[in-house]
Amino acid sequence: MDYVAMAEMVREWVNEAGDILRESLTDTSIKIEEKSAPSDLVTEMDRFIEAFYVNKIRENFPDHKIYGEEGTYDEINDLSGFIWIIDPIDGTLNYVKQKSNFCTMLTLFNDGEGVLAFINDVINKRVYHGVKGHGVRCNDEILEPVPNHTLKDGLVALNTKMVMLQPETSNKIVKEALGVRLIGSAGLEMVQVLTNRVSAYVTTPLNSWDIAPGYMLGTELGLCFTRTDGLPINLMEKNPIIIANSTTHQEIVSKFIN
Ligand code: IPD
Ligand code: CA
Ligand code: CA
Repeated sequence: MDYVAMAEMVREWVNEAGDILRESLTDTSIKIEEKSAPSDLVTEMDRFIEAFYVNKIRENFPDHKIYGEEGTYDEINDLSGFIWIIDPIDGTLNYVKQKSNFCTMLTLFNDGEGVLAFINDVINKRVYHGVKGHGVRCNDEILEPVPNHTLKDGLVALNTKMVMLQPETSNKIVKEALGVRLIGSAGLEMVQVLTNRVSAYVTTPLNSWDIAPGYMLGTELGLCFTRTDGLPINLMEKNPIIIANSTTHQEIVSKFIN
């Protein structure tokens, strides 16, 4: 399979999804529902964008499997073969409340290895994408590898639950760093690490759709992407994650979490 040619086609889908989401921001009739909690929302647009990707995938790759946040599940018992992971809107709460700081994400794995990944930072019109063995790009610009540096030389990003449920560990990490930043979109937070704007992103357990593209793109860029205990990611379950350059990664895993 020619992944580069495939990526060109998929980039068009992800761009189109971004256009649809940008236009939807002025539509006041979009239905919003609560899922597990008042902070856990799903909108009509989450479902619409997932269906949009599913149709494109089924049309072009009918034998591939799909695992989508909003309910599109093929039977997946292991990671063999081609599996698409969809997070139609990452940062739905931001989409609803801030009308910014959200992205749309799509990733393809082959036998458990990330081969294509896309994170569309919709408001800034920046699509972060990568093809295995061909580097990571922001739109058409190649991203440079992140230089190794220590925690005290950079900022860290955490997710809200990390701050709430693991305050002591969060404190230790933040104290050592220059500061902490919280966006509320795992995809955009992982982009901050890919682009060396923050040194690490550390979280409580996240779903596979939250982490899939950051995992693929981070690995392609040579960053360390593991569970917070340093063990490898298992896409068949939720994972507390850390993505960082190797020095910062080691510092956080060994000094603060283990
Ligand atoms: C959420 C965001 C958030 C993270 C949550 C995720 P969603 O994704 O990525 O930053 O802390 O755990 O569920 O629900 O907006 O796709
Ligand atoms: Ca989502
Ligand atoms: Ca998400």
